[in-house]
Amino acid sequence: MKKLVVLSGAGMSAESGLRTFREMGGLWEEYDVYEVASPGGWEKDRSLVLRFYNERRKQLLETEPNRGHLDLVELEQDFEVWIVTQNVDDLHERAGSSRILHLHGELLKSRSTLDPNLVYDVDGWKLEEGDLCEKGSQLRPHIVWFGEAVPAIEEAARIVSEADIFVIIGTSMNVYPAAGLINYVPDSAPIYVIDPNEVPIAGHQRIRIIQKGAGEGVQVLIDELRNA
Ligand code: OAD
Repeated sequence: MKKLVVLSGAGMSAESGLRTFREMGGLWEEYDVYEVASPGGWEKDRSLVLRFYNERRKQLLETEPNRGHLDLVELEQDFEVWIVTQNVDDLHERAGSSRILHLHGELLKSRSTLDPNLVYDVDGWKLEEGDLCEKGSQLRPHIVWFGEAVPAIEEAARIVSEADIFVIIGTSMNVYPAAGLINYVPDSAPIYVIDPNEVPIAGHQRIRIIQKGAGEGVQVLIDELRNA
């Protein structure tokens, strides 16, 4: 079976009702990235950071996968599909995708501030000051913040380097190292981009732009792959 690798971003979940980051009305317009999503912000005001992610978690628990997530599962009938996602939501999982790698962590999990190997499921939507790991240190959101290393990037690069088809969905390709994964796509693999807006990807041949939202766009992708 051919390997189809998807790199997804916030736009993948937009039609489920979750806000993207950099568009008009996006999260980074309302919040200062440094304040809520960096180690410095955590040092400065833990309760603000916890509140920010609690709010995200609460919203996530009220949303459902959209047609785009569900149709990516359908592609598993014809391809070995790998989802490399920058999203911290669990909508690919809930849709039923089999192979998912989270680059930027997972919103429904917490992690020890003492031992990064201690990762837990968050009970409900609230993670609060005083919630401790088994070694007695404060729990933090299991999110890769700005300025932190991306532990899954090597595995992601390996997966992308084995792609027969590469599909980019709903990411502005602004954040590295995730955006750099495109450089690992084999020369022989076609690249599809599904996004209603223009995405800056220069210098690549074999790019097919599907300028649509994720739901409609994945349907177009499936049709084109079936007729290829
Ligand atoms: P961005 O907010 O930067 O980009 C969202 C992309 O989704 C844009 O290209 C939009 O045009 C597109 N989009 C909007 N609606 C869409 C729809 N219905 N269907 C498909 N695409 C749509 O989000 P990311 O690229 O994911 O990191 O941002 C990358 C990282 O920056 C995030 O993982 C997050 C953020 O800061 C952390 O928080 C660590």
